[in-house]
Order: sequence, then C-alpha cells, then structure tokens
Amino acid sequence: MKARVLSGVQPSGNLHIGNYLGALKNWVRIQHDYESIFCIVDLHAITVYQKPEELRAKILEIAALFIASGIDPKHSALVVQSMVHGHAELSWLLTCVTPVGWLERMTQYKAKTQAIETIGDGLLQYPVLMAADILLYQAAIVPVGEDQSQHLELTRDIAQRFNSLYGATFVMPATNLPAVGARIMGLDEPEKKMSKSAAGAGHAVALLDPPEVIRKKIMRATTDSQPGVDFETMGAGVENLLAIFQAFSGWSDDQMKPHFTGMRYGDLKKQVAEMVVSQLEPLQARYREITADPAYLAGVLREGAERVTPIADSTVRLVKERMGLYTP
Ligand code: TYM
Repeated sequence: MKARVLSGVQPSGNLHIGNYLGALKNWVRIQHDYESIFCIVDLHAITVYQKPEELRAKILEIAALFIASGIDPKHSALVVQSMVHGHAELSWLLTCVTPVGWLERMTQYKAKTQAIETIGDGLLQYPVLMAADILLYQAAIVPVGEDQSQHLELTRDIAQRFNSLYGATFVMPATNLPAVGARIMGLDEPEKKMSKSAAGAGHAVALLDPPEVIRKKIMRATTDSQPGVDFETMGAGVENLLAIFQAFSGWSDDQMKPHFTGMRYGDLKKQVAEMVVSQLEPLQARYREITADPAYLAGVLREGAERVTPIADSTVRLVKERMGLYTP
C-alpha cells in the first residue's frame, strides 16, 4: 500500500503564487507517488468571520484551482473538510490531550490575535483541528510551505502524547517543504511573508490575476539601491524575485547565477514577470474550463468525501476505543 499524503488550503482570500510555489506545485509533483488527499479547510477559515456567500463561492474556487494547478481528481481525493465529520470529531478528541500552553505558544496564534479584542476560541484550537486533518488519515507526508512547520511539530507532539497515553495509534507525519519557494515574501514588503490577508494592492500576485496586473505588480516590486543583481550582497526583494523565477522555471543554481549576475533590476523584473505570466496563463485557461461546468466540480467533491470517509470513520472509531468511549 502506498503511504498517504495530506495537505490543505484555507478558502479565505485569494490564492497567490506563494501558496502555489510553497504548496500546490509540490502536491502536483508528488501526488502520484502516494495515496493523496488535498483538503479545502473551510472549518479553519471560519476561525475568523467569513461572509457566508463569499465563503461558499471561495470553496468552489479553491477546488477548481487545485484541479487547474494539476491535481488529478481521478487519483487524488479533493475533500471539503466540513463534508467529512471525522475532522471535527477527532479535533475534539485531540483537544482533550493537548495542553493549552502548547497552543498559546504558536506564533501564528500570537500574530493573528495581536490586533483583536475578543479572541475566538477557534483561533486557539486551530492547530488541533489541523493535527486532526493529518492524523485522521494517518498521513505520513505533509507537503506545506515553511510557515506551517511549527503547526506540524505540534501535530507530532499531540500524536506522541496520545500514543504514550493510550498506546501506539498514530503514524508520525513528516513535513515536506519544496527546495525552492517554501517562503515567498510580499512584493511590496520583502521582509514579510506573502499572505492572503495582507492589504496592499502590490503585495501578492493572485493566481487569477490577469497578465497585465501580474506585470504591473512585479515591475513595482521593492528592490534595493544596488545597480544590478549580485548574488553575494542582494537584499530580500531581489532574492525573492529570483526565488519566484527559480521556483516557476525549475532552473538549477548553476543556471540561475550566470544568467542573472549583473542584470539590471528592470530587466530582472521583466523576465520574472514573463515567467510568471507564461506559467499562470495555462492554469487560468484550465480554471475557466472547470468553472464552466459546476456539476463536474460538485461531483469531484462529493466523490472525494465518499472516498475518504471510511478511512476517517475507522480512525475515529479506533481513537474512541483507545480512549475508553462506548463503541458498540
Ligand atoms: P494556508 O491556507 O495559509 O496556505 C496554504 C499553503 O500555502 C503555503 N503558503 C506559502 N508558501 C510559501 N510562501 C508563502 N508566502 C506562503 N503562504 C502560504 C502554506 O504553508 C500552506 O502549505 N493551516 C494551513 C491549512 C491546513 C493544513 C492542514 C495544511 C489546515 N489543515 C493540514 C496541511 C495539513 C493554512 O492556513 O494554510
């Protein structure tokens, strides 16, 4: 039996090239080597308020973007998290073995709650639900961007704690980061991670941005005051543009260095923009085809949930038995 891969994306905000290079592109690359499950984690999205109609539309948009990026729904299960009850159920069972201190230490929790007065309990529980997503399917490999590493360490800690309290139950999931593109930075602020929720119009390139918008955003990206590319002394903005180019093109370091050394920033940006446009145009064309047939997408999501529900149910049952709940 093939080992299992699981990962997920929140249906909040617009998917951007950081999500694509850090996660989706890697999923597409490894999907056929494993039994693969890719989730649209709507229960995570509602840890902050979402307008209901927008959320519903976003879930379908993300599902279509998974397929447009190259996820093969005949092989990989595409799952809307809330359609499979085991996610929420296992999350509660794991909550009961998770010390609050572990959750309060999470950097994303601290960052997200900094500006809020009333902090929803869901934000604190968020990483437990994520652990449940992974452990529910006994996933061995979790391909993500670097910002999820801490959540994955916590997942292993929760799994270990459960195993030591109740006996060996969970597989320890390994974090799988892409070699290039694990942390794409904001175009306008290259010290900050590119994020779906950042406000600036020039911050992120969305996967569905039209070519002229992509070009404009990249041409305006923050660089530094050097005359051209110097791999030894470059600032974060130039490094980020080169990472975007390398991750999209698949070029090796040996190809990158001679090609870009000494290049003026205007020319660098033009080449990055054309690389991004040429890679996203076919993805956008596939997206338009997929969304033209809503029944197809609904079928893929129904079938995905049906395929994984037996796995989820058997894990929940095992966990309940181990914990001593009544399981006739
Ligand atoms: P989310 O929705 O924030 O991001 C989806 C994926 O994109 C990656 N990513 C990035 N990679 C590189 N550079 C960036 N700037 C960048 N921004 C985001 C993320 O690392 C992620 O892989 N908690 C998760 C969703 C989740 C999940 C899971 C993931 C829920 N359950 C189980 C894996 C397994 C999240 O909010 O991702």
